[in-house]
Amino acid sequence: MRLARRPAIAPSILSADFGHMAADCRAVLDAGGDLLHVDVMDGHFVPNLTMGPDMCKGLRAALPDVCLDVHLMVEDPAKFVLPFAKAGADVFTFHIERVRDEAARDLAKAIRDAGMSPGIAVNPPGDVSPLLDVMDAFDLMLVMSVNPGYSGQAFIPGVLDKCRAINARRRPEQWLEIDGGVNTHNAPDVRGAGVDLIVAASAIFGVPASQRSQVIRTLRG
Ligand code: DX5
Ligand code: ZN
Repeated sequence: MRLARRPAIAPSILSADFGHMAADCRAVLDAGGDLLHVDVMDGHFVPNLTMGPDMCKGLRAALPDVCLDVHLMVEDPAKFVLPFAKAGADVFTFHIERVRDEAARDLAKAIRDAGMSPGIAVNPPGDVSPLLDVMDAFDLMLVMSVNPGYSGQAFIPGVLDKCRAINARRRPEQWLEIDGGVNTHNAPDVRGAGVDLIVAASAIFGVPASQRSQVIRTLRG
């Protein structure tokens, strides 16, 4: 993963202005964002429907050097590996609730063979053990701190135990990402649990553009 610093801050474009996507993304990177988090939802695994490989392709063309962190909240992530690789994604994260055990390891290899970094995510109600069992095959572990589907939900503090469990087992170069409800108030607890890649949508895009660099600095700590 091409990221210069830890902790890193990933603005989630789910809360950007879809009518001015490239400009909003450029601005938030200029304000200190390290990468862009791209939430892909299929209306089945989660209730919402968002964006696909074409958004990724457009962002890649507009921002050739940015790291694109694609989070697949879909029923069948395997069928999207090649489309997102072709579209210029850097990270491809799928959910352990959909693919686990040896199939998760096989999918991690397919993602790597396609030139991307594999990530594995777990939802708030889920047991962390299946993720711990396969995490050695991944570059990134993502703990969801809301039930996925929408920006702007309240942070679920109980997931920090999962972060600690993953943090205790990870290799130093692996990333521990958290996604959902993170803001300037709970960011110290999040970092204290070992998280070094923080996703935030409403905390960043929900404030006036002039305040975003301050928010990103505070999230980073
Ligand atoms: C939630 C998505 C998140 C979302 C986070 O289903 O996976 O990436 O954009 O939004 P906030 O930071 O507003 O909770
Ligand atoms: Zn996400």
